[in-house]
Amino acid sequence: MAEVRLERVGEVALIEIDNPPVNALSETVRIGLAARIAEAMADDAIKAAVIACAGRTFVAGADINELGKPRQPPLTVDIAAQLDDCAKPVVAAIHGTALGGGLELALACHWRVAAPDARLGLPEVKLGIVPGGGGTQRLPRAIGVKLALDMITGGEMIGASAALDAGLVDEIVTRSDVRSTAIALARRVVAEKRPIKRLRDRAIEPVPAELFTRARAELARRRRGFEAPLKAVDAVAAAIMRFDDGLKREQTIFAELLRGPQFETLRHVFFAEREATKAPDLPADLKPREIALAAVIGTGTMGGGIALSFADVGIPVTLIDTDRAALERGLAMLRRNFESSARRRNLPAAELDRRLGLIKPSLRLVDAAGADLVIEAVFEELDVKRTVFGKLDGIAKAGAILATNTSFLDVDAIAEATKRPQDVLGLHFFSPVHAMRLVEVVRTRATAPDVLATALALMRRLRKLPVVVGAAPGFVGNRMLFERAREADRLLRDGVSPAEIDHAMVEFGFPMGPFAAADLAGLDVSWRMRKARGIALPVADALCEAGRFGQKTGKGYYRYEAGGREPLADDATDRIIAEVRARLGVTPQSIAAGAIVERLVYPLINEAARLLESGVALRPGDIDLIWIYGYGFPAWRGGPMFYADQIGVANVRDRLDHLARELGEEALVPAPGIERRVKEGRGFYG
Ligand code: 3HC
Ligand code: NAI
Repeated sequence: MAEVRLERVGEVALIEIDNPPVNALSETVRIGLAARIAEAMADDAIKAAVIACAGRTFVAGADINELGKPRQPPLTVDIAAQLDDCAKPVVAAIHGTALGGGLELALACHWRVAAPDARLGLPEVKLGIVPGGGGTQRLPRAIGVKLALDMITGGEMIGASAALDAGLVDEIVTRSDVRSTAIALARRVVAEKRPIKRLRDRAIEPVPAELFTRARAELARRRRGFEAPLKAVDAVAAAIMRFDDGLKREQTIFAELLRGPQFETLRHVFFAEREATKAPDLPADLKPREIALAAVIGTGTMGGGIALSFADVGIPVTLIDTDRAALERGLAMLRRNFESSARRRNLPAAELDRRLGLIKPSLRLVDAAGADLVIEAVFEELDVKRTVFGKLDGIAKAGAILATNTSFLDVDAIAEATKRPQDVLGLHFFSPVHAMRLVEVVRTRATAPDVLATALALMRRLRKLPVVVGAAPGFVGNRMLFERAREADRLLRDGVSPAEIDHAMVEFGFPMGPFAAADLAGLDVSWRMRKARGIALPVADALCEAGRFGQKTGKGYYRYEAGGREPLADDATDRIIAEVRARLGVTPQSIAAGAIVERLVYPLINEAARLLESGVALRPGDIDLIWIYGYGFPAWRGGPMFYADQIGVANVRDRLDHLARELGEEALVPAPGIERRVKEGRGFYG
C-alpha cells in the first residue's frame, strides 16, 4: 500500500515515499507527499527536509495508469510549486532511477544527492507526452538549454557522474550513504544559513534561435511521425520566457498531448513491453538456470553479433566456426563493429579490450562442452542444423540450454536431433544484433519451463526485449512478413512500381519500404526457402533468376551505385516486371497510396489473427511489439493489432473480404478470429 512517512532526525524531517515497485507518484502518494511537506514546514522544531524513497528506486515518474484520467490535485506541478515556496531547505536523496515526475520532484528540491548508480531522465516523449511537472522549465535552468533539450526531446537517462558534471546533482556518495549525506547537507545549509537554491529563480543563459530550428528539423527526420519530440522543443523554447509564463506553456502542451492519440498508443506499447517479458503460464517461483559461460556456433552476420552482446554484459563466450577463413573474417568484423559501437558509447579502450577478451575463438565444436548455453547460428538449412544439434548432444554438459537462431525452420525438428529436447528452444535475434532489441523466444512442444524462464531472464540481462512465440515455421514476425511479401509482389504485377509502393509505406510510417528492406536483407535466402516449400512469388523469383539478390549484388528491386546504399529506380527491373505481367496476362492499372497501404497492412492483421488463434502468438501486444521492434511498424500507430482496433476490425474484415474475392486469394479470406471479433463487437484489445 502506498505511503508517505515523516521521520524526525533531529531538526531534519526525513520524508520517505514508499509505493512499490517504482514509487510512482500516484494520487495517494501526491496527497501524502504534499501533506508531509506542509507538516515539516509548519513545525518550528524542523529546520530542513530530505525527500527519499524506500525500495529499489527513487520516484520513477507519474503513475502511468492514472495519467490521462481526470486527476485530483495536488498534481506534480503543484508539489513542485509547494517546494519552491518552502522557506526551509529541502534535499532530494536519489537512488535508482529518478524519472519523469520523479526527476521533476528532485528538480524542485533545492539540493540533490545521488548514489553512483543513479540514473536521471525525462522519458515522457517515449510515452507521447512532454514533462508536465515543470521539468521543461527547471531542467534548462539546471543544466543549460542545449543539454536539457537533448534529454527532453530524446527521453534518454544520464548516469550520476554525467549528472554531476552537468550540475544536475550536487554530490555523489555510495548508495548506503545517500540519506545520511542528504541529511548532513540539509543540516549544513541550515547551520551556514545558506540561501535556498530555487531553480525557478535561476536566470537562463541566452541561446541562439537556430538551436531550436535545428532540433526541430533533426527530430522531424529522426523521429518522423512522433508528435511529442517536436512539442518538447516548443516547451523547452518557452523556458527563455519568465518562469511562470514558460510553465503555463508547458502545462498547455502537456494537457494537449495527454488528450491526443499518441499518448494512448505509446502507453499501450509501454505496458505491452512489460507484459511480454512474462510468459503467462510460468510459475512465479521458477528458478532460472545459471548462465556463466556461453558458446555461439557460426561466426557469420548473426553469430558474431550475438557473441558481442554477451561480452558486452560480461558473460564469457566461446565463438566457434568450423571454417578457419570464416572464423577469421567473423572475428575481424566483430572487432570492427565493437570498436565503432564503443566509440559511440565513449567506452575506454581498456574496457573494450576487456570485453573483447571475453570472446574465445575456436575451430572445434567440442569447445562448447563447458557452456551453460549454446546458441547455434550456422547456415539456414535444416540438415546442417540437425547435424550440429546431434553433435552438440554428445558434447554439451548436462543441463546446458541449446538454442537455435533459425529465422524460419522448425525448431521441434531441430530439437528432435537431440536426446534432450526439453533443453532446446529458439532464440531468434534480429540483424544487426547490436541495434535490434527484439528477440523471438521460440518455445517448442518440449521446452522445459525453467529453460524458457532462463532465456527470458537472460535476454533482459542482455538488454533485449524477449517475446515468447510458438514453434511454427517463421514464428510470428516472418510468418506475417511473408503475407506482406506475397501481396507486395502482386501489387507489382498489378501495375505499381517498387518506388511507389515503398513510398506509400514510408508515408504510412515505416522507416523503409518493403522492397528497399528486402534488397538490404538479400533476396536469395527467402528465394531458396520458397523453392524448398514450392511457393512462387513471380516477380521476386524472376529477379533472383536474373541474379538480382539486392544490395549485395548491386541490384535487386532497385540498382545501387558501387558501394552505395541509395535505392535507384532501374529500367531492368521494370522490364522484368513487364515480362512477368505479359506472361501472366495481367493488364497494369494504377492504385492509390491508401489502397496500397491497405493491401499490405491488412494481410498482416489477418495472419496475426490466425497466429493468435493457433497459439503461436500469445497476446496481441506481443505481435505489436514484434512488428514495431523487428520490422519498423510505426510505434505511434501502436503495432498492427492496435492499429486494427483503431480502424475497426469490421472495416478490416470487409476490406479483406472484398480483396479475397477480387484477387482470388484464399489467404485474404478474413480469419475466423477476425470474424468472431466482428460478431462479438470487440477488437483485439477487447
Ligand atoms: N507508473 C506505473 N507503473 C510503472 C511505472 C510508472 N511510471 N514505471 C514502472 N511501472 C511498473 C511496470 O509496469 C512494472 O509493473 P509490473 O511488474 O506489474 O509489470 C513494474 O513497475 C516494474 O517495471 P519494469 O518491469 O519496467 O522494471 P525495470 O526495473 O526494468 O525498470 C524503470 C524500471 C526504469 C522505472 C521502468 O519501469 C521505466 O522506465 N518506467 C517508466 C518511467 C517513466 O516513463 N516515467 C515517466 C512517467 S510520465 C511522467 O512522469 C509525467 C510527469 O512529467 C508529470
Ligand atoms: P552466415 O552465412 O553469415 O554465417 C553462418 C556461419 O556459420 C558461417 O560463418 C559458416 O562458416 C558457419 N557454419 C556453417 N556450418 C557450420 C557448422 N556445421 N559448424 C560451425 N559453423 C558453421 O549466416 P547468418 O546470416 O549469420 O545466419 C545464421 C543464422 O541466423 C541462420 O539460421 C539465419 O537464418 C539466422 N538469422 C539470420 C538473420 C540475418 O539477417 N542474417 C536474421 C535472423 C536470423
